[in-house]
Amino acid sequence: MNLPPEKTALLEVHSLQAGYGPVQVLRGAHLQLHAGELLLVLGRNGSGRSTLLKALMGLIPAAARASLAGQEMLGLPAHRRARLGLGYVPEQREIFPRLSVRQNLLLGAKTARTSPSRWNEAAVLALFPALAPRLHAPAQALSGGEQQMLAIARALMGNPDLLLLDEPTEGLAPQRVAATALLIRQLQGQGLGVLMVEQKPWARELADRVIVLGDGLTQFEGPPAEIPPDVSAAWL
Ligand SMILES: Nc1ncnc2c1ncn2[C@@H]1O[C@H](COP(=O)(O)OP(=O)(O)OP(=O)(O)O)[C@@H](O)[C@H]1O
Ligand SMILES: [Mg+2]
Repeated sequence: MNLPPEKTALLEVHSLQAGYGPVQVLRGAHLQLHAGELLLVLGRNGSGRSTLLKALMGLIPAAARASLAGQEMLGLPAHRRARLGLGYVPEQREIFPRLSVRQNLLLGAKTARTSPSRWNEAAVLALFPALAPRLHAPAQALSGGEQQMLAIARALMGNPDLLLLDEPTEGLAPQRVAATALLIRQLQGQGLGVLMVEQKPWARELADRVIVLGDGLTQFEGPPAEIPPDVSAAWL
């Protein structure tokens, strides 16, 4: 019998435990994400959604079995994970306020994989034309929406296969929220995987699959339309 080849996951995470000192936030979460897929992380405030992204990026200590494109990644420092193909846009965006837009972009390229080298300054400026006239401005002079563009552009400069986005439209005007949804679709269409924390309704419409975090565990993993009512009532 000829079985179809099994689709291997881009990111595979089992038994993820992470927290802050004595406070354990995640106590065995799991997820799978395929190339070009948008996986949305849902959960209540404080359920550990940002903790999950920070643990995957290597910014806080964590224990797990986790691989990116088949390569074991837990134990590697953040810059090595970036070279494996992870890009991260933190909740507070964390751009360098006194550095220029161009300098922020160059810092994103520092941990870039050399191949495939899809993104460079010209390519991210084509994606975010509003940043082009601001290249020499200090990042702190940008509007909230422009700072979000810069944070995403900086992450793309690392040529990621997988983008970790933490509430990318927090505090932004509706127009910028809609533009972000379109942008994510476009990036996905180019094969980029996206693991996103976002509670606004547009995110569920866009997501291929979701995970629901609760009590430090993955309580549900599947299409957004299939979240069982009891999971929703207990954890959302
Ligand atoms: N640096 C830290 N030190 C100690 N505890 C923290 C730290 N960061 C987060 N926590 C705690 O860990 C838990 C999970 O936080 P996390 O930031 O992952 O939540 P979240 O799901 O992203 O929600 P939200 O973004 O709404 O805060 C919370 O109880 C939070 O108070
Ligand atoms: Mg958070």
